[in-house]
Amino acid sequence: MKNFKLIIVLVIVASITSCGNKRTPQLQYMPDMYESVPYNTDAENGLKGKPVNSKPVAGSIPRGGHPAYDIADTNEGYEKAKSDLKNPFEVTAENLANGKAMYTIYCTSCHGKKGDGNGYLSQAEKFLGIPNYKDRDITEGSIYHVLMHGKNLMGSHSSQLTYKERWQIVQYVEVLRADLLK
Ligand code: HEC
Repeated sequence: MKNFKLIIVLVIVASITSCGNKRTPQLQYMPDMYESVPYNTDAENGLKGKPVNSKPVAGSIPRGGHPAYDIADTNEGYEKAKSDLKNPFEVTAENLANGKAMYTIYCTSCHGKKGDGNGYLSQAEKFLGIPNYKDRDITEGSIYHVLMHGKNLMGSHSSQLTYKERWQIVQYVEVLRADLLK
């Protein structure tokens, strides 16, 4: 019984004193686990004004990336692309082969294998006014522009194709057009 009282007293004393002196910090085991650097704001870390966690500067191009397409979907935009926009990729057998493969997937249904406008959707009269490429005064820039923005009944293909694939298709369309003009 005596021991029991002693234990009670000890527990009370321990619970009062264990939280210690509030003025001095308690021992913290591995403080970085509690207060990691990213937990604080840049200003608290003394990095105010320095470019930490900030967005890239406007107009930055990611490594291996390409500039955003900023020619507007207007008549002026079309004319500008038609005269100024140039294919950044060289014509190579590989680019043409991939252009052909992509063209076959995304364009033949309307434009036909040869680009004469006789795709099966055209034959089934699902889409009217699909041109023969030889009847259009188009350039590499205008073809790219139409791929990005679409034109009337033709929708944009910007989301289905990568930057490079679009330019590869442009090369292939130019080849088809040249053949049609022969
Ligand atoms: C759903 C049918 C359809 C598909 C798919 C389609 N087109 Fe077209 N395309 C059209 C129609 C319709 C026009 C005529 C637009 C107009 O001038 O009114 C057109 C016009 C064009 C023109 C001429 C634009 C100009 O400046 O006169 C080009 C070049 C062209 N398409 C390329 C492509 C390529 C490349 C693809 C595949 C990535 C493609 N199209 C996919 C329907 C389609």
